[in-house]
Amino acid sequence: MKERLLTGDRVTGKLHLGHYVGSLKNRVELQDSYDSFFMLADVHALTTHYKQPETLKAHVNQVTLDYLSVGIDPEQSTIFIQSLIPEIAELTAYFSMFVTVNSLKHNPTIKAEASEKGYSDLYYGFLGYPISQTADIAFCKATVVPVGEDQLPHMEQSRKIMRRFNQLYAPVFNEPKAIVGDCARLIGLDGDSKMSKSKGNTIDLDSTKQEVYDQIKKAKTDPARIRRSDPGHPDICPIYTYHNVFRKEESGSIYEGCQKGMLGCVECKAMIAASINTLLEPMHERRDTYLQRSNYTKEIVQAGTERAQLIAKETMEEVREALMINYF
Ligand code: TRP
Repeated sequence: MKERLLTGDRVTGKLHLGHYVGSLKNRVELQDSYDSFFMLADVHALTTHYKQPETLKAHVNQVTLDYLSVGIDPEQSTIFIQSLIPEIAELTAYFSMFVTVNSLKHNPTIKAEASEKGYSDLYYGFLGYPISQTADIAFCKATVVPVGEDQLPHMEQSRKIMRRFNQLYAPVFNEPKAIVGDCARLIGLDGDSKMSKSKGNTIDLDSTKQEVYDQIKKAKTDPARIRRSDPGHPDICPIYTYHNVFRKEESGSIYEGCQKGMLGCVECKAMIAASINTLLEPMHERRDTYLQRSNYTKEIVQAGTERAQLIAKETMEEVREALMINYF
């Protein structure tokens, strides 16, 4: 029996290159070794988008296509919808009995997201999402969780919650471990430290060749370089970061060319745009193939959800036994 892997994505927007290098690439590499679960996190998305349920509905299919386009194989991996596994909500309720408000308030990712969103008072669901994220992992007893670096505080909290449950009641859960991609955080096109949909600084996985060229063309570079001969500072240039991630072998000569004022930004940008397009090309091909099969994404999500439901029922039997709520 293979160990289980679970991870999820909020269905609030398209997936982009930051998701790819931070987590999706890893998932594709790991899917042969683990029984893999990929969750369309709609309940989770409601923590910030409770006023826009239509956004979530629109992106369930989109994120599924993004998964398939990067090479997640629906024949071997399970793609499912979070809200259709009510056991996740049930587990969230049980876990929340022994997680303190302070431990949630001090979670650095919660803090950062709250300040980014300008929340002066925290919504209960938002504050508690590390608990529901623990339930996402626990319902199928996943031991491996590929995530971006920002999710590490949640993973630490998840491990603690499961450990506590096991101590209090019965050893039902295995503490999961996080796996972070080679590039835990990809810088945004605007130079912001994180590529993120809410900041509008992304290159989406379904971007056309032209869009990639245009976006890269507009991307921020070292402000000290006005003329081609001006010596550059690749360390502070987002485009250099992309070279380092997507054209690693040649990045040394890019560094030198920039620093010595021998390589111009236009040329440097054209090279990286071409490499990104090469990376995206097979994704577009897969996406087109899946798009031609009408209803296919719906069918695989339905089948995946049914499988996840069966597993959730099995785990809940053990959980109810442990909590002694098996009355009849
Ligand atoms: N919080 C994750 C994110 O914002 C998404 C997510 C939801 C998740 N449930 C999960 C990730 C469970 C790993 C495991 O990216």
